[in-house]
Parts: sequence; structure tokens; C-alpha cells
Amino acid sequence: EKDIVSKLPLRNKKILITAGPTYEAIDPVRFVGNHSSGKMGFELAKAAANLGAEVTLITGPTNQKASHSFIQIVPVTSAQDMYEAAHRYFKEVDIAILSAAVADYRPKNIATQKIKKKYTTLTLELEKTKDILASLGEVKTKQFLVGFALETNNELENAKGKLKRKNLNLIVLNSLNDKGAGFKNETNKVTLIDAEENITEYELKSKAEVAIDILNKIITQIHA
Ligand code: CTP
Ligand code: CA
Repeated sequence: EKDIVSKLPLRNKKILITAGPTYEAIDPVRFVGNHSSGKMGFELAKAAANLGAEVTLITGPTNQKASHSFIQIVPVTSAQDMYEAAHRYFKEVDIAILSAAVADYRPKNIATQKIKKKYTTLTLELEKTKDILASLGEVKTKQFLVGFALETNNELENAKGKLKRKNLNLIVLNSLNDKGAGFKNETNKVTLIDAEENITEYELKSKAEVAIDILNKIITQIHA
């Protein structure tokens, strides 16, 4: 009891967290985006900081706030920005948790002027963005790498596929079939799958509580 700080389980750990949506520009005033609130990532950042971690939170556009002396916020806009920021910090971290809802596609050409409504139909050509999580899996050394999987069908199979393909230590399966789970909701229901394919299913709970469950699993695994 003399030294509470020395008992914090994530003391001396550096954690990288990605959060929120990305915005992919169409022209100077428009973008392609998604409904991610950023809440899950911000709750992870706050919980990790409260457990003593030094957190770098790379976030797409969101209204979420996190003022904590152990949290450094790195705001980004596009998938490409997030990719570059993630690689800038990854080398020096012990744990990376990629909870952002990164755009899979972006407009192939960004109009330099505002697009006028002179067309009856307008087709946007999209190209793939880089997969940030998979790219970190390729360069990973000591880092404990955690991804999310947002699924609507064949959930376990798809999540296990992502775990293996992206070289992860843990994946958080978010099933959109569960009422109250994911994305815009205040609550979440997750299943964690580790590298040995051990499966732990959790109840529907607040995202703050889900964040604790995820961090507890990570702490158990890095000490195993
Ligand atoms: N992710 C990422 N970079 C991308 C796309 C996804 O880092 N360009 C990460 C997400 O942050 C998440 C994980 O990859 O941790 C899985 O995202 P998800 O959308 O479920 O899967 P995808 O691999 O993008 O495949 P699909 O959308 O086709 O299911
Ligand atoms: Ca995706």
C-alpha cells in the first residue's frame, strides 16, 4: 500500500490505440465516412491509462474526449494519415490495439474543385486503402498486436481468419447480430479469440467495462 503506482499492471507499458472512423475526401467539401463513434477506442485508452500505461491514441474525427496525462492524442483524418501515424509510433510500443473503423476504400481521384451538380448520375470510383493492422502484423517484433473484427455472418470463422492472416495475438469479435453491440451503441458484446484460438465470450455491457475485459485478457496473455 506504500506504492500504489508500482502495482499498476500496465505501468512502464507503451500502448498504441487507433479509434474512430476515417474520412476519405471526394472533393474539398465532401467525404466518404462511416458511423463509428470512436467510443470503444477512447474507453480503451482511458482504461489503459488508469492501469498505468502510456497511451498514444490515434483517432479519426470524433466528438470523444480523453484528458489524461498518460494519453497523447494524435488526430488524423484519412486511412492513409492513420497508416502513417500508426507506423510512426508502432516501433516503440509494447501493445497495439486497432479499434478504428478504417475505410476499406477511398475515392480514386479527389476533385480539386467542388463537384457541381451538373450531372444526372455521378459515379465515384473507389480504390482500396492500406490495411493498417495487417501491415503492422508484417513488421511486428515484440509487440502484442490486437485487432477487431466486425462481422454479420460466419463470425467465428471470419474472426479466426483475420487473426491468422494479420498475424495477431488477440482478436476482438464484434458481432453486429447482437442487439446493442458495436459501432453507434453505448454498449458492446464481444468475444475474444487468442492466438491458440481459445474463445472467451462476454455479456452485453458498457464499452468502459468491455475495455477492462479486453485489457485484462491482454495482461493475462503477456504474463503467460
Ligand atoms: N483495419 C485496418 N486498416 C484497414 C481496415 C481495417 O487497420 N484499412 C483493422 C480494423 O481496425 C480492425 C481490423 O482491421 O482492427 C478488422 O477490420 P474489419 O473491417 O472487421 O475487417 P477487414 O480486414 O477490413 O475485412 P472486411 O471489412 O472485408 O471484413
Ligand atoms: Ca473493413
